[in-house]
Amino acid sequence: MCGIVAYIGKQTAYDIIIKGLKRLEYRGYDSAGVALHNSKSLNVYKKKGKVADLETFIDDKDISGSIGIGHTRWATHGPPNDINSHPHQSGNKDFALVHNGIIENYAVLKEELTQRGHQFLSDTDTEVLIHLIEEIYTNSKKSLTLFEAVRIALNEVIGAYAIVVINKNNPNELIAARKSSPLVVGIGEGEFFLASDATPMVEFTKNVVYLEDGEIAHLSLETGLKIKTVANQEKTPYIHELEMHLETLEKGGFDHFMLKEIYEQPQSIHDSMRGRLRSSKSMVSLGGIKDYEEKIVQAKRLIFVACGTSWHAGLVGEYLFEDLARIPVEVEYASEFRYRNPIINEDDVVIAISQSGETADTLAAIKMAKEKGATIVGICNVVGSSISRLTDCGSYTHAGPEIGVASTKAFTAQVTVLTLMALMIGKKKGTITNQRFNRLLVELESIPEKLESVLTLDSVIKKIASTYKDSSNALYLGRGINFPVALEGALKLKEISYIHAEGYPAAEMKHGPIALIDEEMPVFVIATQDTSYEKVVSNIQEVKARKGKVIAIITKGDKDVKEIADHYMEIPLTDSLLVPLLATVPFQLLSYHVAVMRECNVDQPRNLAKSVTVE
Ligand code: AGP
Repeated sequence: MCGIVAYIGKQTAYDIIIKGLKRLEYRGYDSAGVALHNSKSLNVYKKKGKVADLETFIDDKDISGSIGIGHTRWATHGPPNDINSHPHQSGNKDFALVHNGIIENYAVLKEELTQRGHQFLSDTDTEVLIHLIEEIYTNSKKSLTLFEAVRIALNEVIGAYAIVVINKNNPNELIAARKSSPLVVGIGEGEFFLASDATPMVEFTKNVVYLEDGEIAHLSLETGLKIKTVANQEKTPYIHELEMHLETLEKGGFDHFMLKEIYEQPQSIHDSMRGRLRSSKSMVSLGGIKDYEEKIVQAKRLIFVACGTSWHAGLVGEYLFEDLARIPVEVEYASEFRYRNPIINEDDVVIAISQSGETADTLAAIKMAKEKGATIVGICNVVGSSISRLTDCGSYTHAGPEIGVASTKAFTAQVTVLTLMALMIGKKKGTITNQRFNRLLVELESIPEKLESVLTLDSVIKKIASTYKDSSNALYLGRGINFPVALEGALKLKEISYIHAEGYPAAEMKHGPIALIDEEMPVFVIATQDTSYEKVVSNIQEVKARKGKVIAIITKGDKDVKEIADHYMEIPLTDSLLVPLLATVPFQLLSYHVAVMRECNVDQPRNLAKSVTVE
């Protein structure tokens, strides 16, 4: 995700834009930039770092002008640095553009434009788009308006975008467009605003138009707001009146970033698969590990190294890789691995999993593994992060910034990438039949939609939370690939509601934890339809026999567990290997509601940091 702000009107554009970018930093904060037109020149200032760093950089620059565009970046293509920051300019410097999204076919477009003489300064997909617009505007047979050139260019683009384009030769217009990434138009008195959400404009106007997918907007003080589709159909803008407060707006209408990020998961899982999975072509492609695919295929052992929630994702990865790719897997706590003087061989592949890409223990562990000759693969969410830069190869999770300290969408995105990786390696090794491969691809593509239906359980889960919010302890049980989900559910509850919770393999209960069961102990169980279902039902009966309270996650249509559990949450049927992607979310919602009812600080729980960069 990135943050976009643009302005055309009677005020100093820079003041509006820089303030708006600060409000959008939750969308991305690795670099920022502005393009300001003062009717004489188009001035572009951009640099790596936060918006405050840009502000310092611009301190002595010309910031005049009543039209401008601004951007705060969450890198997806090209590491965070000055040259990859937005705005990006056309080769002739006549146009500048800011972009939020991913252009999947940028490499093909870049190749074509390079052959036509375009030279690129950055590694970004965004720069390709502004060169394409320039190419169409400059070299079309008939003379085109910038609006037309943008429309034609967007017909050649595959992917997601929210863009704003400014024209050096016509400082009275802004062109904006969106597809899959949000863009809001603010309509003021003699002024227009554009932003990724309404927070930068809410103090100036309550009248907004939410651009729809495939729409292009032309904003001009002379002709006002005009909207067309990329197919060239006129659209009548529908003006909403904003009711939300600034604080709520920053969280997209949610009370907390954590809840917003839980609800973003259908989109973030979709984004982590974007351009990497095509069931119709029986294709999984992870470009970031292409050069090392053979190395992974030949690996004698995979060693997952991570901390916390990312370690739980590694445990899910163990089940995925051993089942689909038949490669032995070890999952290591980074803090233990780095001090144990482990035996590491050159045909070992170490896979580091980290949302922040800055966790000190994980960083130290892979440095050690690299020194011992292992190949290092990264699965990170922050492009250009320390861990991602240390690895030999890797795949970004593309979950977008995760602000809530308790990891939610990053976890399901990590599991999604691990699933894609295991499928790709298993297919290459021939350890998975084509039929199972294709069936899993189709099922994986259906997960975002199935997750939408899981999210409709929210009110049911809130009721369950109110029943158990005063518990002192809780037990989470799961078998097989759902054992890590039990661990993750327990971690979520303890880290944001401060209730002591433990995750266990369900069969382990009788080896000790069953002594804890009484009517005060809620036991959360993943009891979905799979090979271990009957055994899990027995475990539930063991708990009930000791007056324990059972809250079960079950497959929609289940009848047996419904009869014996105190509460249940029904999730859609999916392949047993993909259940973690669905079963995790009820536990996320449960811990969220319990924490809110206990008046805990959900987004910044006590004693915790979003990224543990100290040992
Ligand atoms: C999970 O909710 C916690 N925020 C924490 O366990 C986190 O997963 C761990 O610190 C690892 O962080 P990383 O993924 O950024 O490396």
